[in-house]
Amino acid sequence: MDTGFLHLHVTVVSLFLLQLLAKVVLVAAKKDAFLEKNSKKLKLADMILGTLILVTGGYLLVKLLVTDDPRGTAPYMIVKLFLVCISIPMAIIGMRKKKLVMLVVPLLLFGYVFAVAKTDDLMLRSSATKEAAAEKELASEGTDPDLVRGQAVYSTRCQLCHGADGKLGFQGAKDLSQSELTDAQMSEIVRNGKGVMPAVSERELSNEDIAKVIKYVRTLGKKQE
Ligand code: HEC
Repeated sequence: MDTGFLHLHVTVVSLFLLQLLAKVVLVAAKKDAFLEKNSKKLKLADMILGTLILVTGGYLLVKLLVTDDPRGTAPYMIVKLFLVCISIPMAIIGMRKKKLVMLVVPLLLFGYVFAVAKTDDLMLRSSATKEAAAEKELASEGTDPDLVRGQAVYSTRCQLCHGADGKLGFQGAKDLSQSELTDAQMSEIVRNGKGVMPAVSERELSNEDIAKVIKYVRTLGKKQE
């Protein structure tokens, strides 16, 4: 990503937040004389910073979209854009009418958007928290050594008939992603075979390997949820 442009964008947004905070304080303190005297300058600050936010942000967004970066269309990006697009005009109108609510609301929204942008997350979770969640998900998908072994066995001995997702049904094979059998029933079928399904001897697969392949088979149903 264009780091220079990103820094410029963050700087402009920070300035906008600061001047908005200053205006909230001035309006709350009823510094009407000061606000009146400097109204042109204050309006100009809004316009310039607001425009710069949209121009730099727009450029960065187009960059994300043309490079197919998933962050370009992520839900947090859409929420962020929406909130910014209502906050800037609200702040400008709030300033014109000196309405405190119409300044405080965009200030809060902007603060939230700022935090969302920092964390890339609508719930403002830190990357460490998100990583832990992703790790958990990955572990349940096959990074667990048992599951890696189970998948290896499955793809060599079972996939031909049951398919990568367990649903192939070749030669009347049952859909494994929907199977309601217990682990014991499954290992019995793998060991002894059933109908067209060949039996697997102890020499071909140990009991542990059967347990691992069954553990892997269990993940086939979960992947579709
Ligand atoms: C030659 C094709 C074939 C291969 C290879 C094969 N299966 Fe099957 N499997 C079948 C067929 C056919 C059935 C249905 C048998 C029946 O119901 O009579 C079946 C049924 C099953 C069932 C019972 C599902 C249920 O819900 O009733 C399980 C579990 C199973 N297979 C697991 C495995 C595993 C694990 C492997 C690899 C070690 C494997 N199969 C390899 C064809 C195959």
